[in-house]
Amino acid sequence: MNARRELLGALAGALLIAGCTGAPKGDPVRGMEVHKVCLDCHGTELYTSPKRKIQSLNALRKDVVRWGDYYAPALSEQDVDDVTAYLNRDFYKF
Ligand code: HEC
Repeated sequence: MNARRELLGALAGALLIAGCTGAPKGDPVRGMEVHKVCLDCHGTELYTSPKRKIQSLNALRKDVVRWGDYYAPALSEQDVDDVTAYLNRDFYKF
């Protein structure tokens, strides 16, 4: 019984860690739709260019927020999560 509880505890801990460092929590399919407004200025080639600036998932999310603020109304938290998930899945692959 105790061993089982310990195992469950370990599993919960592992899930917690995976949740913190794993893939972004957004929905890439929805993110692709939201991202269409971003194509006003640049295509997706920017994201795969050898000269791209973004080097981590955190930096990617920050940049999505930065560009999202350009719009009125700005992108919502959910939009940011979804666009980040989409860009990461299809281009950045962190
Ligand atoms: C007003 C024009 C404009 C709009 C609108 C715009 N961008 Fe950009 N974006 C740029 C320019 C110019 C750059 C390159 C210079 C820079 O990073 O500041 C850039 C760079 C980026 C980069 C960094 C690429 C890299 O790895 O170097 C990301 C990510 C990005 N944009 C995402 C978005 C997203 C997401 C949206 C929509 C929410 C968006 N942009 C809307 C003009 C725009």
